[in-house]
Amino acid sequence: MSTEALLQRVARYYAGRLAEHGPTPRGVDWNGEESQRLRHAQFLRLLGGEPEASVLDLGCGYGDFLDFLRAQGHRGAYAGWDVAPEMIAAARARHGEGEGVCWHVGATPDAPADYAIASGVLNVKGETGEAEWAEYVLGVIETLAQAGRRGFGFNLLSLSSDPEKRRPHLYYADPAGMLRHCLDRYGRHVALLQDYGLWEFTVLVRRG
Ligand SMILES: C[S@@+](CC[C@H](N)C(=O)[O-])C[C@H]1O[C@@H](n2cnc3c(N)ncnc32)[C@H](O)[C@@H]1O
Repeated sequence: MSTEALLQRVARYYAGRLAEHGPTPRGVDWNGEESQRLRHAQFLRLLGGEPEASVLDLGCGYGDFLDFLRAQGHRGAYAGWDVAPEMIAAARARHGEGEGVCWHVGATPDAPADYAIASGVLNVKGETGEAEWAEYVLGVIETLAQAGRRGFGFNLLSLSSDPEKRRPHLYYADPAGMLRHCLDRYGRHVALLQDYGLWEFTVLVRRG
């Protein structure tokens, strides 16, 4: 399947969740607000000390990370990107646009920010085969690396999860393999967090 077709499938999936649940955590396929915010909080280790830094949020959904950032005192420019036009419409309706906030439909940002993050974009592989999705994941990580001048971060469901709890339409990555990949490709300033109580890990990469 071409990347374009794959992205269209992803966009349709999330548009369906939004149509069913509205701009809520369930509308972006999370179980609830608590875990959504816990995921957001992992990215503070990357950008929390720099309230003026610009942030690009790939797979922004209806823009919950922007609410989170502003509540943390972050004042830098924010750009939200999402492959689902319905998500971007919901984000615009919620936050408006201008004064350092902009929204874009798409999966390939056309301008970098200081930091690029992606929360939850790599999990739902649907019918896509493991190998094809694994390759797609590395491509999205490369997109993030290009989009974050000073660093980037993302999360993935973990193969450290209990096998009987895994679900066939979701993608689970090997944390050690992903750490190796990021060290080899993006340099030594890499953190992998898998201690926050969800079935996943967050990778943070600071450019040297
Ligand atoms: C699980 S939701 C998370 C939304 C948001 N990051 C949050 O945590 O509230 C994933 C979002 O990423 C979008 N998405 C998935 N893959 C994408 C990609 N490759 N590029 C841009 N958006 C993507 C989906 O349309 C969906 O809105």
